[in-house]
Amino acid sequence: MNELTLLGLGVVGSGVARACDAPGAQWSVRHALVRDTTRAREALLPPACLTTDPAVALAGDGPVVEVLGGEQPAADLIAAALGAGRPVATANKVAIALHGPRLFALARERGVGLGIEACVGGGVPIIAALRQLAGGQRLTAIGGVVNGTTNAILSGIEAGQTYAEALADAQAAGFAEPDPSADVDGHDPAAKLAILVALAFGIRLDPTAISRRPLADISPADLRWAAARGARVKYLARAIRGEDGVLRASVEPTALPIADPLASPAGSGNAIRVEGPLIGATTLTGPGAGPAPTAGALLGDVALAVARRTPLDYPAPDAPFVTPAAPGGPWVARLPAGAGSASLPGDARWERDGDDQIALIPVATAPELAPAVRALGGTCFRWDAGSL
Ligand SMILES: NC(=O)c1ccc[n+]([C@@H]2O[C@H](COP(=O)([O-])OP(=O)(O)OC[C@H]3O[C@@H](n4cnc5c(N)ncnc54)[C@H](OP(=O)(O)O)[C@@H]3O)[C@@H](O)[C@H]2O)c1
Repeated sequence: MNELTLLGLGVVGSGVARACDAPGAQWSVRHALVRDTTRAREALLPPACLTTDPAVALAGDGPVVEVLGGEQPAADLIAAALGAGRPVATANKVAIALHGPRLFALARERGVGLGIEACVGGGVPIIAALRQLAGGQRLTAIGGVVNGTTNAILSGIEAGQTYAEALADAQAAGFAEPDPSADVDGHDPAAKLAILVALAFGIRLDPTAISRRPLADISPADLRWAAARGARVKYLARAIRGEDGVLRASVEPTALPIADPLASPAGSGNAIRVEGPLIGATTLTGPGAGPAPTAGALLGDVALAVARRTPLDYPAPDAPFVTPAAPGGPWVARLPAGAGSASLPGDARWERDGDDQIALIPVATAPELAPAVRALGGTCFRWDAGSL
């Protein structure tokens, strides 16, 4: 049996080990790098396979699957494996969003594959599809629901759960990031969007430069209010390249028409839309997270990497960073009764929802709206579900 090296044996690493233990598997695990070899874990691998020493883990040849998470030491270990001529598959969007250019340059130089399918969309094969969809044409927009945890929280709240109950369920299912703020404050979807922008537009983005609003910018009352108007709120990561050449990118709660395919995923599902002048709009949907779909994406990449598939066309290490603009409105803001409204734009239209005041705020509103609304104890979300 062919052997691979696992860097990480947590939620996803265990999923890969289980897949390698299943009947018909093509790979077995030679070494797994962990922080603590004494920690109790599912008895998937013989104890001798486990090591805390990266040099031991990376000795030998064959493909490397990196599922440590975080920027470092993951990025440097991916580089070390590629430098040693070993193909790598990774699920680590943080390492790729921050170090993709140098890692792809190294993969190209060494003539080995670097698979990143599992970094975005879990089991949705968006990276492979992008290469096909982008073939020779200018794409104009990319993005959608790329974070399973926040989507599961929204689904749970729609089904009557509290925010805390829905988050606890997502964590128990193994698809929440270890630090929930990575999901609910938008860092995880921003890193994924930076990767999609690199591949779709050839543009290098610092994920921290993407305009981000937390999931907490909306309330259960907002979901009900939107549903009564035929809309569903999703935590949307989206980048649009306008005809003016300006790239606008954001991660924010957004109300969509209920019939929009991006409004369809439930639970940890993902939906990603690619738009271009020739292809129109194509939306891919599927399981967005969890150990089994992510392991499937990783092992698919291992097969492709071993077949020495040409590395993806990623921006060069010396490509300048582009600073994206934040899109304007329209927005919907909810303010508790008695909260002042002076800091909100004068062109807002107002209506009541129970004790709350709802402001319908048209296009071209400054992106600084959310902090002003938050300071008044309110919530707000983008309205992308028809005229206000
Ligand atoms: N969970 C999902 O559904 C999902 C989906 C898609 C992508 N991802 C990505 O997959 C990656 C892994 O996620 P996860 O949920 O599997 O994380 P996790 O459960 O926290 O597992 C991390 C693993 O890496 C090991 N590790 C971490 N830092 C280390 C270090 N410095 N040295 C040695 N070992 C180290 C840990 O060792 P110990 O076991 O000893 O602690 C653990 O085995 C992340 O990049 C994540 O974003 C996750």
